[in-house]
Amino acid sequence: MCVVGDIMALFKRKKKQSIVNENIVLPNHIGIIMDGNGRWAKKRGLPRVAGHTVGASTFKKIASYANKIGIKYMTTYAFSTENWKRSPQEVEGIMNLLRDYLKDAKNYKEENIKTLFIGDRSVLAPDIQELMQEVEETSKDATGMVLNIAVNYGGRADVVRAVQMIADKVKCGEVSPEEITEDMISDSLYTTGQDEPDLIIRPSGEYRLSNFLIWQCAYAEFWFSDILWPDFTTDDLDAAIADYAKRNRRFGDAK
Ligand code: IPE
Ligand code: IPE
Ligand code: MG
Repeated sequence: MCVVGDIMALFKRKKKQSIVNENIVLPNHIGIIMDGNGRWAKKRGLPRVAGHTVGASTFKKIASYANKIGIKYMTTYAFSTENWKRSPQEVEGIMNLLRDYLKDAKNYKEENIKTLFIGDRSVLAPDIQELMQEVEETSKDATGMVLNIAVNYGGRADVVRAVQMIADKVKCGEVSPEEITEDMISDSLYTTGQDEPDLIIRPSGEYRLSNFLIWQCAYAEFWFSDILWPDFTTDDLDAAIADYAKRNRRFGDAK
């Protein structure tokens, strides 16, 4: 049994090395809609928050692996502007997990990941807002992957906020309406200055964006799977990346 385990470990290690060394075209920016926690728990007769707990640990493993293989940006959808519709117990459970993650985040410093939070944090508990700021501050000089964690994030709210910022500039005469460009809108989004997502991963068998990065995804590639997020492994990330590498991205051209 032990030998089989060792062989499997070797096989896995070999496979992991291959995705990095094969000269495979890595996506610069991967977005992940971390979905399926509730169904994962339901299948086991557990409360939904148990699914979120395991989902949170999957998130840490996947973010750490993505950084290791050289992904430049990763955006993970943790809580949407629509998720407030859920029961107060579930929302509280998710917020507690976020709080635990934030308190722990200083221990991930050696990973060299630059963490940012996108979404409207102003309505979150004050201690969570403070912890978010602390995590951003302590990781700001990291040179590895940029990890955007989307909390109370909605793609439409992102666009509305950008439009409001630009409208302010129009109001004070800094720009005229005719001067508004796509770049100006992109630069006013939470993801300002970052490469747009190349690959969006959605597990859990759903085929939708659910208000995730709607502007930024204009030319993203999509990878869907039935795997529920708590079961998602680094092998699944490898599979998504390998599939992405085979895609022919034309961006409207006739190549
Ligand atoms: C995703 O899992 C986590 C959040 C939306 C916060 P879900 O909780 O949506 O899981 P399902 O879709 O009900 O299985
Ligand atoms: C999207 O999942 C939001 C997150 C993963 C945070 P949802 O479970 O909220 O999406 P819908 O309701 O199935 O579209
Ligand atoms: Mg869901």
